Amino acid sequence: MTAAVVTLTDITDRKSADAERDRLTRRLLKAQEAERLRIARELHDELGQDLTALSLGLKSMELEPALKEKKLQTRLSEMRAIVEHMSVEVHGTASSLRPTSLTDLGLREALNCLVASWAERLDICADAHLEALDGQLSDEGQLVVYRVVQEALTNVAKHSGAKSVSVTAQWADGVVRVAIEDDGRGFDPNPDRRRKTNCLGLSGMRERLALVGGYLSVETAPGQGTTVYAALPSSPSIHV
Ligand SMILES: Nc1ncnc2c1ncn2[C@@H]1O[C@H](COP(=O)(O)OP(=O)(O)O)[C@@H](O)[C@H]1O
Ligand SMILES: [Mg+2]
Repeated sequence: MTAAVVTLTDITDRKSADAERDRLTRRLLKAQEAERLRIARELHDELGQDLTALSLGLKSMELEPALKEKKLQTRLSEMRAIVEHMSVEVHGTASSLRPTSLTDLGLREALNCLVASWAERLDICADAHLEALDGQLSDEGQLVVYRVVQEALTNVAKHSGAKSVSVTAQWADGVVRVAIEDDGRGFDPNPDRRRKTNCLGLSGMRERLALVGGYLSVETAPGQGTTVYAALPSSPSIHV
């Protein structure tokens, strides 16, 4: 009898510890998103503006009659090209930190834009087949899906050497399913056999999905490409 009571207390303790951990993780993720928003704004509003001003300044110097010397002209236009490249980078980093497109366009279009701009930047073939999901997920669920696809694409770029990637999203029987499939080098999915590194990407995706009642699975093997699957209930409850 005593043993049963102890076990019950244990389970209750564990449940409240789990709930507390989830609450803290959620707060941490919220703080992280807020910080990303702050950095994105600063990049866009401060650095972005300064770079535009610098580029315009260089352009007007190129047109300055007193500075018509050929060598100087070439140097100025080279410098302007660098500044313009920096502007594009700053803009790209700011929008990956803060998917404003999610609020403006909704999940489906935001993912389409993400995949298209990723493919263009990295010169990798990518296609997206996305069902209209917008009504199916809370804001939190939408952000989780967006961040999962973003991290999966980052991994494809960083690790896979893939030639092509396909992103699909569909909704059926109350579950939203997303898959990111590449034809790259794949990897050993058994973490014990992999070199231990601070791999926060896949575990971060897992945690984010778990918080909205979803899960992540990865199908891969060396030489076989990689497919990351994410599934989450279409109307996850929001715990704040
Ligand atoms: N699409 C992929 N193709 C090949 N290897 C991958 C892919 N995604 C993940 N990996 C492997 O799994 C590891 C863990 O990924 P992740 O948790 O995102 O950590 P990180 O990207 O910081 O290394 C990577 O280091 C890489 O070896
Ligand atoms: Mg990663």
